[in-house]
Amino acid sequence: EAAEKGGYPHFMLKEIHEQPKALRDTLSGRLATDNSRVLLEELQMTPEEVKQIKKIFITACGTAYHAGIVGKYVIEDLARIPVEVDIASEFRYRNPIIDQDTLVVVISQSGETADTLAALREAKNRGARVLAVTNVVGSSVAREANWVIYTWAGPEIAVASTKAYTTQLVVMYLLGLYLAQQRGTLTQEQIREVVTALRELPAQVEAILGREEEIKGFVQKYAHCEDVFFLGRSIDYAVAMEGSLKLKEISYIHAEAYAAGELKHGTLALIVEGILVLALATQMDVFDKMVSNIKEVKARDASVVGITFEGEEELAKSVDEVIYIPRTHKLTSAVLTVVPLQLIAYYVAVARGCDVDKPRNLAKSVTVE
Ligand code: G6P
Repeated sequence: EAAEKGGYPHFMLKEIHEQPKALRDTLSGRLATDNSRVLLEELQMTPEEVKQIKKIFITACGTAYHAGIVGKYVIEDLARIPVEVDIASEFRYRNPIIDQDTLVVVISQSGETADTLAALREAKNRGARVLAVTNVVGSSVAREANWVIYTWAGPEIAVASTKAYTTQLVVMYLLGLYLAQQRGTLTQEQIREVVTALRELPAQVEAILGREEEIKGFVQKYAHCEDVFFLGRSIDYAVAMEGSLKLKEISYIHAEAYAAGELKHGTLALIVEGILVLALATQMDVFDKMVSNIKEVKARDASVVGITFEGEEELAKSVDEVIYIPRTHKLTSAVLTVVPLQLIAYYVAVARGCDVDKPRNLAKSVTVE
């Protein structure tokens, strides 16, 4: 097993470090060399078929569900198709309104999760066409769907998903752009901007991993916290959900993600000294609002760790620590912001002596209901 970990103490840390390669592999052959468009040969949808899509449902469990929430922001923004995201165990039992004009996207690293597979079958029974996003070639969801887009993350062993999530995000961008190209919802320049951003992601993740020691250093101060809140707006909120799940899964700390604008509707009552707040601030159209939210939690004596783009020096004045990430397109930021959150969860869990790769009561793949 030590050999399989390639010198890392845990599979999770190894897999966090494998992300630049996993992202490169997932992008490989799917971006035009001149960055003018994405190529998704496996989709083979005619422009008519794409135009017929009136609504998209994304359904999945756990981390894959969180990738789906990012997918909603991305697909709605790029392709202007309404997207609903549903937890697979809810979708399958709640009589969803779907027909032949609905595209159902199931996301599953293993391709074998019982609830996700049941949701896929339910969607097909109701006449929807199904696209599977999975990491395992020939898995059940891959076999039963109408189309498959593979994530090329390689085997993921740690229960807490890392490289599967970031590659699922990449597929959401590719899908959003593919649909946008077919429906003509973006200018050539807008497509190029996102494609260029995608191409830069692997090296940018490498740059963040280069700051690992810095993150490991300050995390020790917060490892004793028993309540952590993750705040963000827009896509940052979707990533906050995944950051919160990572921390819960492996460190057993109570963590919650909140849309920052919702603070005043409840969570603020829980913000007191000793609470740690992880504040994601990469969405520039709501940056000032996010900074006001951060000031609100700081004023109640919470410790705040902020994540923002390099060059946003203002944030440092309102928080205890800042983690800077390379600047990218507003939609692709998710792939970068999640990396420090993965490292924080990992080092907090290690500091607390937890079994990082095999957290209590959890399984890598849940094939029974
Ligand atoms: C389990 C794992 C999670 C995973 C979820 C969905 O709960 O512990 O890490 O996100 O299943 O798995 P899937 O293979 O369908 O992506």
